[in-house]
Amino acid sequence: MVNLFGGIYNNKTVLLTGNTGFKGSWMAYWLTKMGANVIGYSKDIPSEPSHFKLINAKYEHIMGDVNDLELLKKTIAKHKPDVVFHLAAQSLVRYSYKHAIETFQTNVIGTANVIEACKENSNTKGCVIVTSDKCYENFEDDRPYNETDRMGGYDPYSASKGCAELLTSSYRRSFFAVNEFGKKHNFILASGRAGNVIGGGDWSVDRLIPDVVKAAAKGETTEIRNPKATRPWQHVLEPVSGYLVLGQKILQGDVSVADGWNFGPANNETLSVQEVLDRAVHIWTHILFETPPQKNLPHEAKLLRLDCTKSNSKLHWYPVWNTEKAIEYTILWYKNYYEKKELNTEADLRDYVTKAKELNYVWAK
Ligand SMILES: NC(=O)c1ccc[n+]([C@@H]2O[C@H](COP(=O)([O-])OP(=O)(O)OC[C@H]3O[C@@H](n4cnc5c(N)ncnc54)[C@H](O)[C@@H]3O)[C@@H](O)[C@H]2O)c1
Repeated sequence: MVNLFGGIYNNKTVLLTGNTGFKGSWMAYWLTKMGANVIGYSKDIPSEPSHFKLINAKYEHIMGDVNDLELLKKTIAKHKPDVVFHLAAQSLVRYSYKHAIETFQTNVIGTANVIEACKENSNTKGCVIVTSDKCYENFEDDRPYNETDRMGGYDPYSASKGCAELLTSSYRRSFFAVNEFGKKHNFILASGRAGNVIGGGDWSVDRLIPDVVKAAAKGETTEIRNPKATRPWQHVLEPVSGYLVLGQKILQGDVSVADGWNFGPANNETLSVQEVLDRAVHIWTHILFETPPQKNLPHEAKLLRLDCTKSNSKLHWYPVWNTEKAIEYTILWYKNYYEKKELNTEADLRDYVTKAKELNYVWAK
């Protein structure tokens, strides 16, 4: 593992906000395997069970809020991270309708705070801001969205991610301009936009797979709101490998990554909720679901696909697993956890890296 991404993460100090969450726990796990000195920064452990707790990772973790600028500054001044990955967020769309201010506060001002805190430390070579495919204004016009598409967002969560992108762009242009890199500053600010992510160890509320596996473990049937909704599903390791490529380039001083980047599955890889669940049941027969008619649901955006041509051609980043494989690994992770109390995290990561090597991906060489 240490040689992945050009071996760049070995002995590097990496500040990872949101390390106790779903994506963050996988990313921290992978980084520690590559020899990084991870410093986690999160305000809480958002679920029980928790993947962060289960993997029992041995790295320093700070319980802190991204709204606390002083604590962020102190943390960065103390640990002098080489690179920062900002994943902490209020990450749920339905929650954001009830808690719009908290969502904007954390996702917008919290992101500004992270960048602001980085500004004061000359050791830090750059930061990857994790937003979402939902940062784009979704015109529901059935075409893949590329990085030049307009920012937007209907619900507070999506709008907060659009705002996070706009403020990242503003910081980049105002303080970390690409043409002034190496002269007036040495900081590279990139952002990663990924869509619906699945994988073992997610116990968030109001997400499809966590909802059905939690119910399956209790022998209950899950009511599915929107069986026809199609989404571009991908395994959690896919966007994480994209963020790690960005981090690698930042550490190498490659200022061409100071930009926004899409990380999504191939464009023919969309499945409806019903199709995902049909495959899931096939893998773990305990999964039971029904699709009763629904009314008065909050607005849910229709399919948004990402055009990842730029990440493919300039970062040489490509997905490793197709949607079928992502579903298979995800459901098997939960089946194993609930039936045998075993964790597939290590095995899944190894299989993922092995496949990437087979595919001759640049980061896996
Ligand atoms: N999971 C997905 O499908 C998905 C899709 C697109 C984008 N994203 C984005 O990826 C990132 C990670 O998502 P996730 O699914 O792991 O989220 P998650 O909800 O599982 O974890 C959120 C993390 O952020 C931390 N956090 C929340 N509010 C905080 C605050 N005020 N201060 C400090 N820490 C705080 C939590 O403690 C936790 O560590 C988020 O930015 C999210 O918006 C996720």
